[in-house]
Amino acid sequence: MELRGKAIVIMGAARGLGRKMAERIAAEGAKIALVDLDPEMLQEAKRACSNGAAEVRDYVVEVTDEGAVEALFQDVRNDFGAVDDGLINNAGTTSDALQVKAVDGKVVSKMTTAEFDKVIAVDLRGVFLCGREAAVHMVEGGRAASSSTSPASPPPAISDRRITPQRRPGSPP
Ligand SMILES: NC(=O)c1ccc[n+]([C@@H]2O[C@H](COP(=O)([O-])OP(=O)(O)OC[C@H]3O[C@@H](n4cnc5c(N)ncnc54)[C@H](O)[C@@H]3O)[C@@H](O)[C@H]2O)c1
Repeated sequence: MELRGKAIVIMGAARGLGRKMAERIAAEGAKIALVDLDPEMLQEAKRACSNGAAEVRDYVVEVTDEGAVEALFQDVRNDFGAVDDGLINNAGTTSDALQVKAVDGKVVSKMTTAEFDKVIAVDLRGVFLCGREAAVHMVEGGRAASSSTSPASPPPAISDRRITPQRRPGSPP
């Protein structure tokens, strides 16, 4: 896929998989919107992507905040002129991914329901909101491509007969 000059939005871009993908896509000459809630690490990621990318912008956004996500995609559209080339829906958390912690066969702590609710909010609500808002602008721009690293991918983002929907590997045509 030719990425030169394409506008790609990368959620959770400040570190980990999101940052690695951002650096790779930047090196291909794309215009990239780096999004995260961690402003310091986002600046580091922006510096790391600046060589090669056609354009790099950073946006500090909490993905569970509906109004903030709506504003984000409108801002990216205003800044890049389009949001229709691709979304990497990668912002996520697992807390520490442990329901219980044990030492020498004794449970010393349990994941709290507040921690669990936060995981669900970021990994489900956040992925849904970003996919939905990207889809709004993709439909209006006439194109669609998205990728999600969340364990829980959102429902198909777009229903428009002019656009060929993406298929998961193994799903019926
Ligand atoms: N690392 C793996 O092996 C692996 C495997 C399968 C799936 N995943 C998924 O891929 C994604 C990235 O994984 P990673 O290992 O790079 O994680 P990571 O924790 O290193 O990075 C996640 C990024 O998302 C950002 N983020 C978290 N909550 C956010 C929020 N509410 N709003 C905005 N940004 C937020 C963080 O600040 C961070 O920069 C996660 O969704 C994870 O569940 C990871």
